[in-house]
Amino acid sequence: MKDADKSVDNRPTDSFTLTDNSTNETWTIPGRVGKMGNRLIDIKSLYGNTGLLTYDPGFTSTASCRSSITYINGAKGVLLHRGYSIDELASKSDFMETCYLLLYSELPTPEQLTSFTNDIKHHTLIHEQLARFYQGFMRSAHPMAIMVGVVGALSAFYHDNTDTTDIAHRRLAAHRLIAKMPTIGACAYKYSLGLPFPTPRNDLSYSENLLQMMFSNPAEEYKINPVLARAIDKILILHADHEQNASTSTVRLAGSSGANPYACIASGIASLWGPAHGGANEAVLKMLDEIGSADRVHKYIAKAQDKNDSFRLMGFGHRVYKNYDPRAAVMRDTCHEVLKVLGIHDPQLELAMKLEEIALKDSYFIEKKLYPNVDFYSGIIMKAMGFPTSMFTVMFAIGRTVGWISHWKEMLVDEEHRIGRPRQLYAGEKQRKYIPLDKRGHTSKKTSWSWLWGK
Ligand code: CMC
Repeated sequence: MKDADKSVDNRPTDSFTLTDNSTNETWTIPGRVGKMGNRLIDIKSLYGNTGLLTYDPGFTSTASCRSSITYINGAKGVLLHRGYSIDELASKSDFMETCYLLLYSELPTPEQLTSFTNDIKHHTLIHEQLARFYQGFMRSAHPMAIMVGVVGALSAFYHDNTDTTDIAHRRLAAHRLIAKMPTIGACAYKYSLGLPFPTPRNDLSYSENLLQMMFSNPAEEYKINPVLARAIDKILILHADHEQNASTSTVRLAGSSGANPYACIASGIASLWGPAHGGANEAVLKMLDEIGSADRVHKYIAKAQDKNDSFRLMGFGHRVYKNYDPRAAVMRDTCHEVLKVLGIHDPQLELAMKLEEIALKDSYFIEKKLYPNVDFYSGIIMKAMGFPTSMFTVMFAIGRTVGWISHWKEMLVDEEHRIGRPRQLYAGEKQRKYIPLDKRGHTSKKTSWSWLWGK
């Protein structure tokens, strides 16, 4: 690895023996170990040496790359960025420092922070032509749909002049994306309201500027509440990166072909939007609306456990955390702080607390190690601040952009990186004889559409 990511460790370690029980043939498979975390079986050469493939839908047991950005120990509820714990970063650093850390691998000195922050501030405006792009969307369009389109469209503005093999170009793309995401997100919100597009202000911090772009209007002075600005900053820090999650892996996969970085980030936004990932914060509020009152919590806890019911407790469970999501702990405290400052007595928060209390004592949730995740609280904070639910995932995307772009550039400079090209377990028809159109009647074999398309 080159660039700032030399610290990755990939020592060879003990090997493993694979035996084909039908032939007794054995192969020695090399092992590998990172600086921390699980031991790995290095199957890079498995297919070449044995003709065998591995099967792992959802990548539950597969490390798709090596990385030195973020470390998670899900059993212990640990999350480190470049070795620093998330609670320390959230309580002692701001989002700009966190961005610098993720991109450049060290916390910045005061001079580095000033220079980095100034550079970001000088890329916050969007091209007038890009601003016109919004006009093509319905006012009622979901802001995440607009984000996918507009961020993808950035690639049209910066394509021929973007050479991803040049470090200066990669850095410029990273800074531009971090700088423009709040402007693009705020414009999506203002567009839905029919209000004029906001102008970024360089005298404000990243989070203050984000707040003012979302909530100010040209007719009135907007006073920034420092507690809310700090809460926004924490939300951004807590969402900044989370190693190889679905959206980050999507960005890496898109980028592995050498695709335009802005288009790669748009693919990450698309993946983030799903309710099992970043869309969960919006889904939590919808779920609380549906539950309605504390006396109905037990009914919904039972629904979540019913195998014949597709209902899940949104904001609960995580692929990696099987103890507690450390981001949720910080978010919970911030949530209470914000509601206190705003003097909001939110019955939905009380309902959320009741739900959390009951679920944490329930044997189903205990056995399956399902705890509240970061999205359980972030929606409640953002609602209290005045964000409509449809904007919650946009805020997540603004925070996660630095993580996506850090992984993208880390991948490009890793000499082990190749185009991502998974294999499959083929479950379709064997080769069969082609039937001309005029000879095709109803075949004797019944086609089960529900098998092909779902119920
Ligand atoms: N409510 C009820 N049951 C659940 C839930 C839930 N929220 N989450 C998992 N389970 C059950 C699931 O039915 C399964 O049971 P069984 O073993 O009997 O089939 C078991 O727990 C394991 O679930 P899984 O879906 O195999 O686990 P996964 O690792 O594939 O999925 C998850 C992780 C986050 C997608 C899932 O827990 C979920 O859908 N949670 C709700 C959505 C949510 O809050 N997502 C935000 C994740 S955090 C933000 C981010 O990083 O994106």
